[in-house]
Amino acid sequence: MVNKIHTLGGYIHEYQKSIANPEQFWAQTAESFYWRAKWDKVLEWDFKGPNVKWFINGKLNITENIFENQLFVQKDVPAIIWEPNDPNEEGKIITYGELFEEVQRFANTLKSLGVGKGDRVAIYMPMIPELTVALLACARIGAIHSVVFAGFSATSLAERIIDAEAKVLLTSDGSYRGLKKIPIKDIVDEALESCKSIEHCVVYKRTGDVISMKEGRDIWWHDAINEVSTQCEAEVMDAEDPLFILYTSGSTGKPKGIVHTTGGYMVYSAYTFKNVFQYSIGDVYFCTADIGWITGHSYIVYGPLLCGAQALMFEGVPTWPDPGRFWDIVEKYKVNQFYTAPTALRSLLALGAEHVEGKDLSSLKVLGTVGEPINEEAWHWYHDHIGKNRCPIVDTWWQTETGGVMISPLPGITPTKPSFATLPLPGIQPVIVDGEGKELLGNSVEGNLCVKYPWPGMLRTLWGDHERFRKTYFSSFDDMYFTGDGVKRDEDGYYRILGRVDDVINVSGHRLGTAEVENAINEHPLVNESAVVGYPHSIKGQGIYAFVVCTEFSTGGEEGIRTSVKKAVAKLIGPFARPDMVQIVPGLPKTRSGKIMRRILRKIAEGDASNLGDTTTLLDEDIVEVIIKGALVDVKR
Ligand code: PRX
Repeated sequence: MVNKIHTLGGYIHEYQKSIANPEQFWAQTAESFYWRAKWDKVLEWDFKGPNVKWFINGKLNITENIFENQLFVQKDVPAIIWEPNDPNEEGKIITYGELFEEVQRFANTLKSLGVGKGDRVAIYMPMIPELTVALLACARIGAIHSVVFAGFSATSLAERIIDAEAKVLLTSDGSYRGLKKIPIKDIVDEALESCKSIEHCVVYKRTGDVISMKEGRDIWWHDAINEVSTQCEAEVMDAEDPLFILYTSGSTGKPKGIVHTTGGYMVYSAYTFKNVFQYSIGDVYFCTADIGWITGHSYIVYGPLLCGAQALMFEGVPTWPDPGRFWDIVEKYKVNQFYTAPTALRSLLALGAEHVEGKDLSSLKVLGTVGEPINEEAWHWYHDHIGKNRCPIVDTWWQTETGGVMISPLPGITPTKPSFATLPLPGIQPVIVDGEGKELLGNSVEGNLCVKYPWPGMLRTLWGDHERFRKTYFSSFDDMYFTGDGVKRDEDGYYRILGRVDDVINVSGHRLGTAEVENAINEHPLVNESAVVGYPHSIKGQGIYAFVVCTEFSTGGEEGIRTSVKKAVAKLIGPFARPDMVQIVPGLPKTRSGKIMRRILRKIAEGDASNLGDTTTLLDEDIVEVIIKGALVDVKR
């Protein structure tokens, strides 16, 4: 069992210890896990390489740590509490014993399909218990899972499958999201037309809708699991063997395949889960994220299950059948820890506090947020209306790349301040640097957030592109991991995340590269070029503003183009990437060397065109006036 910190003094002591001797600190933490063979050396690193390895030559299987290692106490304890989309459908409670059986059965199924250690398995599924089974079954046999969020389009799914050269795809016939039914398998069929590496596609029957099954390639999940045994020996993995790939957006159009390895990720996800949520055995923990994102990987599946937690998994949406859905679930299962995104809170806040009234939320002990900065209004609403002024809020800052929470209060231990992620967790050494890479020491400073020492949960490479890994994270500043975020350290030494400083935008907690959206827009036959920027949005955090130059107008004129551009992006990336504002412009503000001056476009999108700074380097200064005149205003700005 990993150590839990109980007091502020304990945190300070633990933090100092972890900085004075990080290797000893993480080795001690790792000792509490079950290793088939112990590591020879705790850490090898060089940020120039870059090369980071933890627990060298340690051997283990992460599922042995979830199941065998704790089965004698946990067999009959719920592992997953599943709440379906429709409150009238019965949920499922799956114990550790039952989950173990399902995982082994599906692990054998994968083997029977020819999947072995190191093979990639793509997963495109709704939030049903079989999704968790799928991840753990891969881990059981040493296959590398690559989960693609089921809101992505066929094109995005195909791009990710092709990049990872996945052999098998796990999916479902359809999925439920509130009143909507999503034809998952139709999307898959379209994607698989271009994916040569896929040999089999296993389809879970969720909606029962009529779908097409391709002979020789597609198999029903219920048929596939029929013939295999429920016992499957764990594959012995090296600590540094990849556990999974998870694609995320960067500042270029192509998504990055973040690679996490087995040993370090296990230690880090479990340690942070236990401490950040102060989880105690018997608690019911509810994270509203989708397993298609890192939050779901680390804090629905691996972190909680490694700690023997009861993890609630919810298939639906926060506003259906009504905006009280989350709170009904909290009441129904007596949830103790609740973890969500600021965007969800902002949309619920806007729908009114009456949806919280009358719900029994007295079981709640800890509230958490993740994914984007939380504004003070949402923080106070969460604190007052949900936490009833008694539950600490943990504003957890981290990234797909970091594997787990990096900066966060410990609930009931670290004094909180609205909109501050507060202090680094033990083992984490954040630094703030200016544009030249000079470290800004002391308090009351603002700059780029970097980390100067490795931690076990950090990414090790980008799938198939180690050079891009180096360039993206280690080339901006010497000998440091660059997060891409701006940050402020206040007079008390507390960290406040200010948002991205690169061309990445955060829309409703979904990370998108502006280049990715531009590429999608540029596919439109009537579009010449485009530039996309983010602007502040009261519900989504950031909205997407696209400036589009057209070759001609089709029938429907400007309005017709605006609509079809939005549709095209939703189709090419996914509905969550649909631009909020599309302004048709005669040209874009460019420097003489042809570079788009995004700073100017950002200001215009923000509605702050009065102070555009220096525009003398522009090729055509007049274009700016024209763009300002035609600028659109979002009422949600
Ligand atoms: O900008 C930061 C923001 O989300 C980015 C990471 O996005 P992603 O990899 O999709 O992971 C999201 C879930 C961990 C960061 O670079 N971010 C994340 N948490 C916070 C945040 N911004 C402010 N406050 C946070 N608590």
